[in-house]
Amino acid sequence: MVKGKFITFEGIDGAGKSTHVETIAAYLRSCGKTVVTTREPGGTSLGERLRELLLHEPMHLETEALLMFASRREHIAKLIAPALERGDWVISDRFTDATFAYQGGGRQLAINKLEALEQWVHADFQPQLTLLFDVPLEVARERLDKTRSLDKFEREQQDFFGRVRNAYLQRAAQFPHRIRVIDSTQPMHEVNQQLEQLVSALDD
Ligand code: TMP
Repeated sequence: MVKGKFITFEGIDGAGKSTHVETIAAYLRSCGKTVVTTREPGGTSLGERLRELLLHEPMHLETEALLMFASRREHIAKLIAPALERGDWVISDRFTDATFAYQGGGRQLAINKLEALEQWVHADFQPQLTLLFDVPLEVARERLDKTRSLDKFEREQQDFFGRVRNAYLQRAAQFPHRIRVIDSTQPMHEVNQQLEQLVSALDD
């Protein structure tokens, strides 16, 4: 899994990350790269079926964490690893940091359980770059309120999102070389410029 580059996008619901996935993929393609865009939970046919359950079916918090990692195991085996072996660039809308933030921070599941699952599913494999889109909770809520019908996570209360956001920021402090915090309240073109610089720096 060494030839390509693996970039992940993270942030609380309503942080505005997903709109940037295709923009940055288009930028990289214009630089001559072969880019695969994908998402979690999901990214494979089994993963997309798990996504339906995860986003809409009430379940025990440990079941939720286990299914996130089950979807991820399939995703790495079927899509991410083969693409990186071909030398492609893979951009995933969420990956393991989301489990630490949502199931760890939001749902307060013991971190050592998540670390054990991470070790099992992708031991020493990590993204080269993680872009963490950060906005104040009120901004995220305002954006969410304007969107279509909300899923199970998006219907959570502000204290849940406060814990998710804090957990993300703690991970950014823990892994400063991999996780870059993007102020997602900036105008779109400024965010894009910053993203282009960060992804270009990977191409050395
Ligand atoms: P999305 O709306 O950004 O596609 O993400 C789907 C939801 O799944 C989002 O609310 C965050 C949640 N999620 C987790 O709780 N844990 C995870 O590991 C992942 C990948 C997503």
